[in-house]
Amino acid sequence: MRDVYGVVGNPVAHSRSPEIHAQFAQATGQALEYRRIEAPLDGFEAAVHAFRAQGGKGLNVTVPFKEAAFRYCARTSARSREAEVVNTLVFSPGEVYGDTTDGPGLVADLTRNLRLALKGKEILVMGAGGAARGVVPSLLEAGAARLVVANRTVQRAQALAARFAVEASGYAELDGERFDLVVNATSAGLADAAPPLPRSVFKPAALAYEMVYGRETRFLLEARAAGARVTDGLGMLVEQAAESFFIWRGVRPETRAVLERLRAMKNAG
Ligand code: ATR
Repeated sequence: MRDVYGVVGNPVAHSRSPEIHAQFAQATGQALEYRRIEAPLDGFEAAVHAFRAQGGKGLNVTVPFKEAAFRYCARTSARSREAEVVNTLVFSPGEVYGDTTDGPGLVADLTRNLRLALKGKEILVMGAGGAARGVVPSLLEAGAARLVVANRTVQRAQALAARFAVEASGYAELDGERFDLVVNATSAGLADAAPPLPRSVFKPAALAYEMVYGRETRFLLEARAAGARVTDGLGMLVEQAAESFFIWRGVRPETRAVLERLRAMKNAG
């Protein structure tokens, strides 16, 4: 029988993780099955228990369960404990291990696919929830010279900033500040909204990175209008998936062709 993996979230119908893992499995010659699991908002644990009871080997975890997944794990990686989120669950008899691959996934997309060297860069991260916590340590580790966390609720930005020894800000206070990279780690795009970012925050040739994928969010539209180079989070999705695949199977899949294929499929409609 093939080993079974999956992605658990709500909603999860539009997740592209099953396609990505199917392509990784084919390219690396690994026999596995990868499912979509929509858990009720109050039913994360029950869904995971049921998956394990059927012999499932591992899960990716997406919105809104990454914090619940962290709490579910008996053992976690250092980077998960730092961020208090888990996006990759590994099941073995009697044990659950959790890791988070979002931060490494973002950094891999930025540095390898988008060819943005992060060392010495000035970076703005918008948002102070689990998505922001998951990527801030990796951006720092990659050599950011300055990292500012901005959030609508400034106290949350301050709490996150204190935890990682970075700067905190509200949006209005960013007027006059300039960044090489602006990462949208808020969920605003999912509600067709955007954080109220001053147009002037983008340095010439700055990159605007939207962590949401598969839709033209207000942040992407506004950043493009302000002259920034823009990208959605599809590359991060593929790179974090590759990290998860490596954790599960011990084999590191090539990502470039997979990402190109997904982008071509999207453009084809
Ligand atoms: P996640 O786990 O995806 O990070 P979260 O913890 O609910 O989810 O955090 C959502 C983030 O998006 C928060 O930073 C939130 O700002 P607040 O802390 O002020 O709520 C941010 N966010 C959501 N909608 C927003 C909007 N319309 N404008 C600006 N920020 C928004």
